[in-house]
Amino acid sequence: MNSRENRFQTCGDQLEILDNEHTEIRRQYIELDDAILQGEGSARILEAAAELAQTMGTHFTHEEEFQETNLIPVFEKQSSTGRATMAEIMMIAQRLQQGEVYAALRLRGLCKGWMHEHMYVENVEFGIASLAFANESDRIRAQI
Ligand SMILES: [Fe+2]
Repeated sequence: MNSRENRFQTCGDQLEILDNEHTEIRRQYIELDDAILQGEGSARILEAAAELAQTMGTHFTHEEEFQETNLIPVFEKQSSTGRATMAEIMMIAQRLQQGEVYAALRLRGLCKGWMHEHMYVENVEFGIASLAFANESDRIRAQI
């Protein structure tokens, strides 16, 4: 396997990890939503929100690594939005640890908007970026 194929394989593996994290974030968001809407109690709401905040934080870290290792250009606006979202998640996580249930509602709203905008854009952009490193047969299989 040449270095270009290695890079494509690594890129594909990282994309699969990011995609799995998206699935997990959606699942945890639904769990948090259920805990709130079904009145499962403060302890369960805080637990579900803490899990979601942790998974989102991990995902952002993996996205940054993906962008760095695959030399994907990041515009300043994207970068500052990402930093602001990460800072808000960290602040929410602190408040959850202090038992503030309101922070779970804030995380629910943040996550809902983030899923709607971020996941679609990222799937398209990272998919295109991975194809940039694909060899000819990979591009044909992807119908590019
Ligand atoms: Fe993502």
